[in-house]
Amino acid sequence: MVKHVKTKKKDAEKAKKKILEASAFDTRYQLQKDKNFIYFPVKKDVDGLKLVDKRGVKQSKKVTSLKEVLIKHLTKTEMAELVSSFDIIGDIAIIEIPPLLEQKKTLIGQALLEAHSNIHSVFQKKSGREGVYRTIPLELIAGENRFETIYLEHGVRLKLDVSKVYFSVRLSEERKRIASLVENGEHIAGLFAGVGPFPLVIAKTKQCKIYAVELNPIAVNYMKQNIILNQKKLKGQIVPIQGDAREIVKTIPKCDRVLMPLPKGAADFLDSAINVCKPNGIIHFYQFAKDDSLYEDATKKILNAAKKAGRKATIINKKVVRPYSPRMSQVVLDFKIT
Ligand SMILES: C[S@@+](CC[C@H](N)C(=O)[O-])C[C@H]1O[C@@H](n2cnc3c(N)ncnc32)[C@H](O)[C@@H]1O
Repeated sequence: MVKHVKTKKKDAEKAKKKILEASAFDTRYQLQKDKNFIYFPVKKDVDGLKLVDKRGVKQSKKVTSLKEVLIKHLTKTEMAELVSSFDIIGDIAIIEIPPLLEQKKTLIGQALLEAHSNIHSVFQKKSGREGVYRTIPLELIAGENRFETIYLEHGVRLKLDVSKVYFSVRLSEERKRIASLVENGEHIAGLFAGVGPFPLVIAKTKQCKIYAVELNPIAVNYMKQNIILNQKKLKGQIVPIQGDAREIVKTIPKCDRVLMPLPKGAADFLDSAINVCKPNGIIHFYQFAKDDSLYEDATKKILNAAKKAGRKATIINKKVVRPYSPRMSQVVLDFKIT
């Protein structure tokens, strides 16, 4: 039996205040109600309140991990196969299901819904990213059949369709890093802008003008909506432009900074990025690289492209942005162009 303060419903607020002031709540148990009374579980007497002994109802243990839910349903081998890393974009989860667990994917999807009350849809990755727009083929395995969601990052709201545009939560820290480097007054060419996460995170804190260039018309449409969604919070101005970065850079003014977040293929656009960059401007170049030679290939490409353009490139920073596969990482090289 557990001690409970028994109080009439109309006096419940006053009783609750007294119990809180006395630090007497027994948080292992739930509050109970019947037609006329409320019962607060307490661990000691509270002055002025009537106590009764009553069977306690334990607080249900909050399930916090997918594995915790699945341990009841999968074998040890299956558990070991489960890729427990999955991405959550807004209220949508995207998970890779290993071949051995294909038959159990509905169960896994349901478990994700159970473990995370903020998730409403679970999609399975059917393959890696595809095509020029870098999208992932997805199949619904649990929850609502809805691809559109809103993701919150660094105080910016990003609306997007997870099946029709590129978006990665794993670049969040990199977006913050770039925003911290930007100075007020800069003009920026934000190439390969997607639904606008780099431009929006930058414009949230810096008074600058960003030409945000993206080929995928659906992503540009979301970027336009995202600018409106965040308009009141933005210090900077974003100009969304749909088209091929190579062509668009010929039509915009020279910039102080150029972003090139296209790790598969940005090298083909180095000449365009260098041409649109003012002397002493900075270019952020992204690439996938083997872990045993992270920067060699990118450095060579950057120096060659600068030489061809009759300019000089000086690498000022290089770092790993995130792991990409067992032996590869996404890297960024920041370089000054004079
Ligand atoms: C790796 S994603 C990065 C998107 C965005 N910056 C982000 O972090 O979410 C690359 C983007 O470049 C776009 N893209 C591919 N080729 C392009 C081109 N020639 N010109 C402009 N955008 C292009 C793709 O549609 C895709 O949205």
